[in-house]
Amino acid sequence: MGVSVGFSSTHLPILPVFLLYFAALFCLDIIKLCFSDANISILCLDSEREGLLSFKTTLTDPSGRLSSWTGEECCKWSGIECSNRTGLTSLKYLNLGFVKLDSAGTDWLQALNKLSALVELRLHWCKLQVPLSLPFINFTSLSVLDLSENSFNSEIPEWLFNLTSLSKLYLRWNFFNGPIPGEFANLKLLEVLDLSDNLDLGGEIPSFFGNLSRLKSLDLSANNLNSEIQEFLGGFSNRPNNLVFLDLSSNSLEGELPESLGNLKNLKFLVLFGNSFWGSIPSSIGSLSSLKTLDLSYNRMNGTIPQSFGQLSELVHADLMENSWTGILSEAHMMKLGRLEYVRITTEPTRYLVFNVSYKWVPPFRLKFIHFDNCLVGPFFPVWLQVQSELASVSLRNAGISDTIPGDWFSKLSSQITYLILSNNQIQGKLPHHLEFPNLRALDLGSNHFEGPFPVWSTNASEISLQDNLFSGSLPENIGSLVPRLQRLYLSWNRLDGKVPSSMCELEDLQVLSLRSNKLYGELPNCWHKSRMLWGIDMSNNTLTGSIPSSFGSLASLSVLMLNNNNLDGEIPSSLQNCTGLTSIDLGGNRFSGNLPLRRPIAAAIGFCRGEINGSRGERHVIYVVFRPVLGNLRWGS
Ligand SMILES: *[C@@H]1O[C@H](CO)[C@@H](O)[C@H](O)[C@H]1NC(C)=O
Ligand SMILES: *[C@@H]1O[C@H](CO)[C@@H](O)[C@H](O)[C@H]1NC(C)=O
Ligand SMILES: *[C@@H]1O[C@H](CO)[C@@H](O)[C@H](O)[C@H]1NC(C)=O
Ligand SMILES: *[C@@H]1O[C@H](CO)[C@@H](O)[C@H](O)[C@H]1NC(C)=O
Ligand SMILES: *[C@@H]1O[C@H](CO)[C@@H](O)[C@H](O)[C@H]1NC(C)=O
Ligand SMILES: *[C@@H]1O[C@H](CO)[C@@H](O)[C@H](O)[C@H]1NC(C)=O
Ligand SMILES: *[C@@H]1O[C@H](CO)[C@@H](O)[C@H](O)[C@H]1NC(C)=O
Ligand SMILES: *[C@@H]1O[C@H](CO)[C@@H](O)[C@H](O)[C@H]1NC(C)=O
Ligand SMILES: *[C@@H]1O[C@H](CO)[C@@H](O)[C@H](O)[C@H]1NC(C)=O
Ligand SMILES: *[C@@H]1O[C@H](CO)[C@@H](O)[C@H](O)[C@H]1NC(C)=O
Repeated sequence: MGVSVGFSSTHLPILPVFLLYFAALFCLDIIKLCFSDANISILCLDSEREGLLSFKTTLTDPSGRLSSWTGEECCKWSGIECSNRTGLTSLKYLNLGFVKLDSAGTDWLQALNKLSALVELRLHWCKLQVPLSLPFINFTSLSVLDLSENSFNSEIPEWLFNLTSLSKLYLRWNFFNGPIPGEFANLKLLEVLDLSDNLDLGGEIPSFFGNLSRLKSLDLSANNLNSEIQEFLGGFSNRPNNLVFLDLSSNSLEGELPESLGNLKNLKFLVLFGNSFWGSIPSSIGSLSSLKTLDLSYNRMNGTIPQSFGQLSELVHADLMENSWTGILSEAHMMKLGRLEYVRITTEPTRYLVFNVSYKWVPPFRLKFIHFDNCLVGPFFPVWLQVQSELASVSLRNAGISDTIPGDWFSKLSSQITYLILSNNQIQGKLPHHLEFPNLRALDLGSNHFEGPFPVWSTNASEISLQDNLFSGSLPENIGSLVPRLQRLYLSWNRLDGKVPSSMCELEDLQVLSLRSNKLYGELPNCWHKSRMLWGIDMSNNTLTGSIPSSFGSLASLSVLMLNNNNLDGEIPSSLQNCTGLTSIDLGGNRFSGNLPLRRPIAAAIGFCRGEINGSRGERHVIYVVFRPVLGNLRWGS
């Protein structure tokens, strides 16, 4: 039986030919052309083969996808799939994702509508315009439709609701506005609906979703939905449902989470971050026995976490950060969390969530990630934490720990840890001296009672804070090679003495160097030619001597320079004129002489807050400013 080569069929309207041309060009391996069956061993006819070969000459094929287009059996060529049915009208599957079709106006829809056998149509990021209505619906077999990322900027078009065979509908990032139309309820076979990132879909989440008994995945995230979700969940109360994935994140939803949440018994993913939900987690959460991911972060949850939380035996990922939790977490709250790997619970500093487990409790989980900021975990450094052998990220900021930490905990952790934050506790003791942290990115042990020498740890971390502790002794001479990728170093408020080692100048990525209020002495090294990113230096309140290194003038990014309260003297180097980005400078409490060689704009800023220095012959210069900036993570204190 004769087969027409798809691309030249006279039944085809012009536009699909154009579309198919691009489809073949860009999406060759996903377009399936359906040809009829000649019921002989070679399905492909001469005329088809010739047609395809002449089509091939019109294509550029840099990736060589068409190299298989040789030989007699064109049904085996790459990108071609022959079926046993007749004619191109049985084209079933068309993917033109990422092909710019903006010149097609709105005619594309009329043209595609004639492909009545089309089952799957993907037009993701095609710069399409969408007509709001269609005079007739012919592609009623359509089961999968992807129109995402086309920026339609309109209401959701009505003709969609006549596509009653749809099982998967992707409409994300189209700037659809208005409420969610009730007509979605017509799409009774719907399994997947993605309306995310339209930003402007408003109003409430309707209850009819509960009537779509096949619905597995509902994504309404990143819109402007602003109701409570009582009614929406109520829709699921009367019949069994198959909802596995629910994402309502980044909306303006509010109210308490109702007990009817427990109706969604098959949920594996519940993502509600970035709303205004408040109150407690309903105890029905415990009946979501398949739940793997729970994300309630960035809400206003100001109640408790129920004991039934401990029943979520499939839970892997729990993110409850940035809320105002209160109450108690006991062993029962974690009883069956054997699969938990990632847990983040942070609350406000004033609203303690109390961790109350027995000292020797052995937890069912093996965590990789634990962030419990502002939760009362102490006073002891818990055994359940010490036995976690796979930790990659730990944050226990302000957790009320006033214990010592066994040295071998740091060594056991060192090979895998990426973030280690234990700041704002009262942890005591010394740190192991030599360790390597190959994966570390940030270390913050600030505001504790650590003592002993500065740890000689070798790491490619970009941030280290040991400030506000009792570290003593000098900085390692080879600090430049120990921490070569360091960007921010906070060592203020310790008891460090000795000189600032010249290898500090080797830190080419250094941005912030904070050494305030130590006992550093001697002259500053004059080698600051490499630190192109260094914008903040605070060495105030030490006993540094000598003059300001002239090479500070090569710090092109320097914005904040605090050298006050030292024993520096001499003339201020004229090279500082090169630091045109300086906004805050404090040189007070030293014995400088001469002029302040700064350019006009800075001098003007300086006039804002005047101080004085006494020259060597007793003359006075009004030169310095005292700003107390709080710039990013640069904590200057008061
Ligand atoms: C076409 O029909 C043949 C014989 O009936 C069968 O073996 C083959 O699987 C069919 N191909 C397709 C794509 O349906
Ligand atoms: C709808 O598709 C059928 C089957 O291909 C065709 O016969 C009919 O003409 C089409 N109708 C319109 C209005 O295109
Ligand atoms: C869509 O369906 C509605 C009824 O559900 C019907 O009134 C309307 O004519 C249909 N529209 C088209 C274009 O088929
Ligand atoms: C949903 O189903 C209920 C009955 O289970 C029915 O009363 C209601 O009208 C249905 N809603 C829609 C929008 O179909
Ligand atoms: C929790 O927040 C809600 C809404 O802001 C408020 O009405 C309620 O009193 C708060 N409850 C507690 C225990 O603070
Ligand atoms: C902590 O648990 C112990 C034993 O289970 C109990 O006696 C104590 O009251 C609990 N403390 C708090 C603050 O709940
Ligand atoms: C830091 O990175 C360099 C180069 O990628 C690597 O050779 C070195 O071993 C790393 N240092 C540590 C402590 O992991
Ligand atoms: C300066 O440092 C000393 C300790 O070296 C400290 O006691 C004092 O409070 C610091 N002063 C200021 C103003 O930070
Ligand atoms: C400062 O700038 C001048 C002229 O732009 C340049 O000659 C001099 O080398 C610079 N000084 C430093 C320390 O970079
Ligand atoms: C400068 O000298 C005057 C008078 O001797 C003195 O009061 C003042 O404290 C001195 N200022 C500084 C910054 O040393």
